[in-house]
Order: sequence, then C-alpha cells, then structure tokens
Amino acid sequence: MKALVLSGGSGTRLRPFSYSMPKQLIPIANKPVLEHVIDNIRSAGVTDVGVIVGQWAEQIADALGDGSRFGVRITYLRQDHPRGLAHTVQVARPFLTDDDFVMYLGDIMLPDGVASFAADFRAHRPAAQVVVHRVADPTSFGVVELDDDGCVRGLVEKPSQPKSDLAIAGVYFFTPDIHQAVDAIPASARGELEITDAIQWLLSNGFPVGASEYTGYWKDTGRIEDVLACNRRMLAKLARAVPEDVGVGSELVGQVVVEPGATIVRSRVEGPVIVGADTVIEDSQIGPNTSIGRGCVLRSSRLADSIVLAGASIVDVNGLHSSLIGRGASIGRDNRGGVGYRLVVGDHTRIELEAA
Ligand code: TTP
Repeated sequence: MKALVLSGGSGTRLRPFSYSMPKQLIPIANKPVLEHVIDNIRSAGVTDVGVIVGQWAEQIADALGDGSRFGVRITYLRQDHPRGLAHTVQVARPFLTDDDFVMYLGDIMLPDGVASFAADFRAHRPAAQVVVHRVADPTSFGVVELDDDGCVRGLVEKPSQPKSDLAIAGVYFFTPDIHQAVDAIPASARGELEITDAIQWLLSNGFPVGASEYTGYWKDTGRIEDVLACNRRMLAKLARAVPEDVGVGSELVGQVVVEPGATIVRSRVEGPVIVGADTVIEDSQIGPNTSIGRGCVLRSSRLADSIVLAGASIVDVNGLHSSLIGRGASIGRDNRGGVGYRLVVGDHTRIELEAA
C-alpha cells in the first residue's frame, strides 16, 4: 500500500500565514502538522509516500526532504492549482499505479493514529474505506450516512441538514477502483473535483464502501482557533525535558521541554511549554500552553496559550495570550515617546486590543 498526502490547497482560512507558508507546516508542539501526518503513515506500515504540493512546493520539500529522516520515501507530485481532492488522485495516478493507497489530508491531526484502520482495510479491501469522526456540528464537513449494518449508504459534502454526526475525518483508503470514479465525476458547483462525489459514484455503481470510526482526539487545523486548541492538547502529552544548564535564576514548573541551545534567565515558565532551540527568554513569564519556535527572543514579557513561530521577537509586552505569531514577527514598545499604537500589519492580519 502507498500513501497520498495532500499538501496543496489554498488555506484561505489560515490567512495571513498562508500568504507566506503552507498551512501544513504550522507547528503543533513545535512540530509541523505534516510531520505528525507522516509519523502516523509510517506507524501504519506505509513507507512509499506521494506528497501533493502546490505553490509552496519548495518549503515543503525543504521540511520533509526525501523522507529518510522519518523512515519513509517521498515522491513530490505537483498540482498546478487546487482543483479538488479527487483531482489530486488524477495528478498522482503515475505514482499510485494500480496499488492500494491511503489518502491523508496534510492538515489534520489524529494523535491516536490510523494503524488499526490500515490493518482493517488490508484485510477486507473494500473499494473505499472512509475514516469518520463524530462532531457536534457536521455542517462544515463531508458527512457519511450509515445503514443498520454499518455500511455506507451515502455521502454529502457540507450538508445544511446532516443525516448523521459522522464527519469525514480526512483519511481514506482506496483500491485502484477509485481511478474510474475520479475520471467519471463532473466538477462540483464550487468548481472542484470532490472526493465525496467520487466515493458516492463507487457506491452508486455497486462497489463496496466502508466506514471506520476514529474515537480519539481529532482536529482539522484549518483555522487559527483549531491550531491553538490542538497545540494545547498536544502540549499536554509532553514529558518534562530540561537540560541542566538552562534556567539561570528561573523557575520552570511542570511539563516544560527546552530544546538545545535555548537560554532562560530570571523567568518563570509554567508548563505545558516547549521552548525551541537557540531561543532566548529573559525576565519573562511564559505559559501555560505555549510553544515557542527556534531562534526567538522574549524579553520582559508575559505570554500564555500561544504559538510563536521561529525567529520572532517579543519585547516589553505584557499579557499576550491566545495568539499565533508568525516567523520573524516583531512585537514591542515604541520607545520614541509616541502615544498610542504603531502597527505595521500585513494583509488579513488580525489584532485584538484590550477591551476599553
Ligand atoms: P481544505 O482545507 O479543504 O482546502 P484549502 O487548503 O483550500 O483551505 P481553505 O478552505 O482554508 O481555503 O483542503 C484539505 C487538505 O487538502 C489541505 O491539506 C489542502 C489539501 N488540498 C490539496 O492538496 N489540493 C486541493 O486541490 C485541495 C482542495 C486541497
């Protein structure tokens, strides 16, 4: 079995980050979502991985390389434009040949893994096996309807009146029968080739389609709030790892991970927190539920429930929380005696100041 990881797309819900980076490289507990995805694929016993890339092909290739660091072999597959999930199967056809494969969206987190589903699929080989997850509001997901025997009766993309609470979780197993289906379906109203339409085509044409329920923690990291929530969840799994020579005159409480080369001086760090390599923290209060990337500077600041990406600096800022700070961003004080706020803000950036 091969894997097809979808790492193209437009990421409009993750602006402004998606203006300069692929959303699949947003770090969760200092590890890009895409690396969590590849780990799960390898744990399911799949090592031949095709990665669909779009405009951020280069950054993704820089992050994953040939895959050997993760114990897999990666082939990059270029999609010219986000034309839909089923379109990526057409793009990947020369890579997939006539092998079975798992299709895995590159922006979802399933910390409990997919190994049992892969084993199940290998044993029964239905034309499609869809992993589903119960959600409170299924209207923004693909939704699966089952009959009394647990067989899939139908699939609908973002239904306004969902017939079940089983959302498609973003992991699908296919035999080569899917290729017929993706070639047979027309584009949807939004102009994309939908994988739900392709699976519905399989159903309508008598092919067996199954569903497996994932009951663990699950998150689609397509929006900022989901990224932060998922980060909190993954940080909670950290085991404390603090080298002896960091933390001069500091208090590091609970689940704190400090990566090599970081220094923490006269500060309080309340876990769960992860501090990236070569980051400097001075005279600050950090945490809980906070990830700080590599090469950041945090001085005389307070920060909680947040993610700071590599190379950012935060100086003299008290009370930052629930924030996602981009690579190399700089937040500080105007020391020239000016009154009010001075902002240099990119497109679609969001700033929420203290309530008056
Ligand atoms: P989505 O999150 O559904 O789409 P998107 O990336 O365009 O995001 P937004 O809705 O915020 O604009 O895509 C799910 C995953 O599949 C994601 O990792 C991107 C990937 N994808 C592709 O690789 N090619 C495609 O044509 C599409 C539509 C998505």
